[in-house]
Amino acid sequence: MLILAFESSCDETAVAVVRDGRTVLSDAILSQADMHAIYGGVVPEIASRKHIEGIAALTDQALREAGVTRGDIDAVAVTYGPGLIGALLVGVNFAKSVAYALGKPLIPVHHLRGHIAANYIAFPELEPPFLALCISGGNSMLVDVQDYTEMRIVGATRDDAAGECFDKVARVLGLPYPGGRPMEELAGGGDDHAYVLPRSHVADSDLDMSFSGLKTAVVNLVHNAQQKGEALDRPGLAASFAAAVSDELVPRAILAAERYGHHTVVAAGGVAANSRIRGDLERACREHGLRLYLPPLKLCGDNGAMIGCQAYYEAQCRRYADMSLNAYANLEI
Ligand code: KG4
Repeated sequence: MLILAFESSCDETAVAVVRDGRTVLSDAILSQADMHAIYGGVVPEIASRKHIEGIAALTDQALREAGVTRGDIDAVAVTYGPGLIGALLVGVNFAKSVAYALGKPLIPVHHLRGHIAANYIAFPELEPPFLALCISGGNSMLVDVQDYTEMRIVGATRDDAAGECFDKVARVLGLPYPGGRPMEELAGGGDDHAYVLPRSHVADSDLDMSFSGLKTAVVNLVHNAQQKGEALDRPGLAASFAAAVSDELVPRAILAAERYGHHTVVAAGGVAANSRIRGDLERACREHGLRLYLPPLKLCGDNGAMIGCQAYYEAQCRRYADMSLNAYANLEI
């Protein structure tokens, strides 16, 4: 089954051609990050406009790179939530038009199911069940994945997402958007004990997490230092921050895996590219006898291939949509 897949939930326009879920024939991505960097974060209206400008040419590119024609496509897939509503609507409406014009079925895909599915592309042997740690710019959650299309959230952030926290802290340190990668580079060689930063405790749920206290602590620390004219140990602060984020995520992922009877942990989303978090996950999983799958860096961020992959499994369950498909800023997994 040859699927043409669209992703436009945030600031990447992505179109991919995927065969039978796991074979990626092309994965064309147009990042708008440089444009949003001017403003220090994603400007939703600009994101929507850039998706409109880029999506048609990117579709031609994806088909060309895959070496297929429109007539070869068996189904059209699209991310329909969660994400920026205007940005999502561009992908959903374009995909609907393509499906209608080609007379092919339309498959709606949840963005986070897509992030999890990125691992199926990288690891042909991987199959559910497993515990997924989904950490992106807009979401941080623990997902009990029972089957390709059967999953439930067992823990989530009560406020900011991990990626959002990286981006805000990067901004206060004068680093460019998106801040995750620059923060990681700054942290290199820094002392992760240089600063004492808070770890959260969510009273009524040991699997839920919180990042807003950590974010505020770093912002206050930086502002206080600036007001007093004190020098900051910037690499030490970045390293201490990464350690705090990792402490928020890794022990909960292990706890959730054990509680829900999983032997496998899978990481997903843009923040899963972080070397501190990857290293801590590797160590913790080894200590607890859990198998760990870490997606390669290029499959951590938003891409169309992961949507094409998940769409294949949605299609096996005949989860198709008709032309009334809408986009949703918030959407249950
Ligand atoms: O999954 P993604 O590409 O988009 C969403 O679906 O949200 O994630 C983007 C997020 C941004 O917040 C970015 O700063 C973060 O992933 N990120 C990282 C790293 N690379 C990207 N965070 C920490 N360390 C990294 N190396």
